[in-house]
Amino acid sequence: MTGRFITFEGIEGAGKTTQIHILAESLREKGRSVCVVREPGGTPVGERLREVLLKDTVLSGLVLPETEFFLFCACRSELARSVIRPALKRGKVVLCDRFTDSTLAYQGYGRGLDLNRLREAIDFSTGGLVPDATIYLDIPIEASHRRGRGDEFGDVFFRRVEAGFRKLAESEPKRIRVIDGQDSVEAVAAKVLKNLDSAIFEQG
Ligand code: TYD
Repeated sequence: MTGRFITFEGIEGAGKTTQIHILAESLREKGRSVCVVREPGGTPVGERLREVLLKDTVLSGLVLPETEFFLFCACRSELARSVIRPALKRGKVVLCDRFTDSTLAYQGYGRGLDLNRLREAIDFSTGGLVPDATIYLDIPIEASHRRGRGDEFGDVFFRRVEAGFRKLAESEPKRIRVIDGQDSVEAVAAKVLKNLDSAIFEQG
């Protein structure tokens, strides 16, 4: 079996975590070995940094945007090198809850840091690891609020993040697959599975 790296992206409340767990089960039923990880986190040091990142936010004035960016990169460097790459080598399907597109959307489009410089540092942090496919679960900000998420970010920032995700998806349509996240959980899960079929099961 060839290892496959699949990431899930979207704004808060888009349903990434739920969909990842459903997909993991479906893939296991089809005989694939699956590894589920999340960002920020997924390693001992990453989980500690996650606490800092989710508590000492830029919005609360405790962290500079640049610092926040490097903390996300530090988490990812650890995860990419010590968890994701080894799992891919063992032929697993790795499902990752957020990855580099989140950094470009939140720290780049959201906080306004220079995208080209971010791309370079991101590439360095992952050692050039790029997902085989990315599912972008698209929900409007209003739906995110209805699901009780996102309010703490402020609408302006959040809208920039959302627009950023859409731009990223437009610029890489082959890798980033946009799926409407507003349907029922089951309907979205079926679309996700169908969409990823060739990315996961075709050899090569
Ligand atoms: P989390 O509780 O995992 O949110 P969700 O369940 O929506 O994924 O929190 C992760 C937060 O970190 C989320 O607000 C997005 C943000 N984030 C960034 O700003 N940059 C990044 O590179 C990553 C991975 C996450």
